[in-house]
Amino acid sequence: MDKIKIKKDYLEKIQKLVKCNKHYYDLSKPLVDDKEYDQIKKEILSLEKRYNFLENKDSPSKKVGFKPSKNFKKVPHKVLMLSLSNAFDEKDLINFEKKIINFLNEKSSYEIEYSAEPKIDGISASLTYKKGEFVMGLSRGDGKEGEDITQNLRTISDIPKKVLAKDFPTEIDIRGEVFIQNKDFEKLKDKFANPRNAASGSLRQKNPTDTKKIPLKFIAYTFGYVKDFKINKQNEYLSKLNEWGFKINPFNKKIKGIKNLMKNYSEIESKRNKINFDIDGIVYKINSFDLQKRLGNVANSPRWAIAHKFSANNGVSTITNIEIQIGRTGALTPVAKIKPINIGGVVVSNATLHNEDEIIRKDIRVGDVVVVERAGDVIPHIIEVDLKKRKKNSQKYIFPLKCPSCGSETIKEYNLITKKKDAVRRCSSEGYDCEKMAIEKIKHFVSKEAFNIDGFGKKIVENFWNLKIIRLPQDIFTLDFKEIEKMDGWGRQSVANLRYAIEERKNISFERFIYSLGIRHIGFENAKLIAKTLKSAEKFINIAKDKKISELLNIDGIGETQIDSLQKFFLNQTNLKVIYSLQKILKINNAIQKKKDGILNSKTFMFTGKLQGISRAEAKSLIEKNSGTIISNVSKKLDYLIIGEKPTKRKVETAKELRIKILKQSEWLSLLNKTS
Ligand code: IVH
Repeated sequence: MDKIKIKKDYLEKIQKLVKCNKHYYDLSKPLVDDKEYDQIKKEILSLEKRYNFLENKDSPSKKVGFKPSKNFKKVPHKVLMLSLSNAFDEKDLINFEKKIINFLNEKSSYEIEYSAEPKIDGISASLTYKKGEFVMGLSRGDGKEGEDITQNLRTISDIPKKVLAKDFPTEIDIRGEVFIQNKDFEKLKDKFANPRNAASGSLRQKNPTDTKKIPLKFIAYTFGYVKDFKINKQNEYLSKLNEWGFKINPFNKKIKGIKNLMKNYSEIESKRNKINFDIDGIVYKINSFDLQKRLGNVANSPRWAIAHKFSANNGVSTITNIEIQIGRTGALTPVAKIKPINIGGVVVSNATLHNEDEIIRKDIRVGDVVVVERAGDVIPHIIEVDLKKRKKNSQKYIFPLKCPSCGSETIKEYNLITKKKDAVRRCSSEGYDCEKMAIEKIKHFVSKEAFNIDGFGKKIVENFWNLKIIRLPQDIFTLDFKEIEKMDGWGRQSVANLRYAIEERKNISFERFIYSLGIRHIGFENAKLIAKTLKSAEKFINIAKDKKISELLNIDGIGETQIDSLQKFFLNQTNLKVIYSLQKILKINNAIQKKKDGILNSKTFMFTGKLQGISRAEAKSLIEKNSGTIISNVSKKLDYLIIGEKPTKRKVETAKELRIKILKQSEWLSLLNKTS
């Protein structure tokens, strides 16, 4: 049993990693900060280590980075471009060294010499030189094959196009980091979230002249394939690189022993904000190439190197104001406006305060001097208030009891699950009656999982709202394109594209339609459940009209919270108006029934009692994966009643009366195991 749960947990982590990789490498828009990313990777690797039945092609033990995107020609690397494993503290370094000493079969007193190199947070590239000539440049891609970005790399002045030195190998892949200096990023900060994204975006421009516009730098630090190589140590290689005309990191050092590595780490970390480029840690490499060769690689990172990561970046600033943002579901999110500060190369002027409870807990006030943390690309937040610096006349922040957008009461709801009041305060109006909520609802309507209208992004929603072009979702389908064409920033082609994208989406699946309405507590999964049960949009619209919610009561997975929310939604006249108007404009396709090829095909199941080692949700999903159906009451339609601990007696008795097959958890599992 546990095996299934472990596998599921593992696969979820892999899926998350794949998603993060796509955002990071392909879209240049990270989903999570580096710390969280490293944590996911670490968890996957440690699960694989503990359970040898776990394996997946997308695991970090199998691949490096992410498949390159389609824009550039793909070329295999002659020597893989590896990744580095991470260390976060001295303990991790001690462990790293211990493993090496064991591997080399040396005594614990063996002293290892390292090359310590600040880890620049940019984009790695591999430059092939043949007979001294720069002939090809590749991005890392997935480590096995990269993108041919030669022309873009050619625009970088730090990259020598020809190396004349006599001792330069006849063929070599020089590898290093492409990055942008913080001072150059200053000019671009409206366009990119951080210097790394700017470098990545610039390098991947289709037109090299666009790359040239952004001043990219290159620092060399390693090599891939090499012919005629006579160097024995990493620090000697770095000096040679310099002699050959490549830039190297000015803070590189040769260091012996962990204590000294730690000392260097603290020194560099304290200098970090003064350095003109972003660094996110220090790379330690065993200095001797002979030892490196002996040590080799584990999976896709070398045994002889590790990246010692810096902790999240902090800065001190003053709160100048506290503003309230209103989300789609009415949540009031307080945001601290702070005096702009540069944290690790990014200018920060906002920090989220999360919710009312957080402000109360930390007693955050306007005028306070605060420590702000920026970890990767997540929204910066406040860690603590420096109470010693608080002015005598400072006043407690009073959270608005009326919505700043529409003036309605703000409320804290009682959470049925946690049996506590929510930490979040919300505007009590139902959606479109509150301007800020309405804008967010329309943004949701056009978003990826909902109508997914190509080119209709958040900025356009705001723009059209301000121009009073849209007020409700249905307005999107009656836009006056002739008028839009006259507007600033629009042309014949862009309007034609928008028109086409909107037209295309008039044909929509039932589940997307439900999801796009933005009903509170009805996420995509719940929308799918409702669509699957009701089968047709007419039915949904009739329920809305007659408010006869009873048909939705028996859907497994739709609980009291969802039912309350649907009821509230259907009571609002504007919501009904939206549904009726959309029904007239759209072709809403009935829910598609799942392909039925699993072994539990056309069989119905129901659970009673507590299951061992598996959640109800997972048990249900296992049944559905095998084409079975879950039903929620004991009737003639039920094929199997699965009983866990302390089953409801009445259910078991009724099942017996109806001669329904009763399965213990173990029996059900062996039924499932026959399927796999
Ligand atoms: S060595 C096997 N040296 O860190 C060796 N990498 O996670 C791998 N990086 O993709 C590369 N500074 O983008 C090396 N001095 C340095 C580095 C460095 C930054 C980046 C590089 C690589 C990533 C490894």
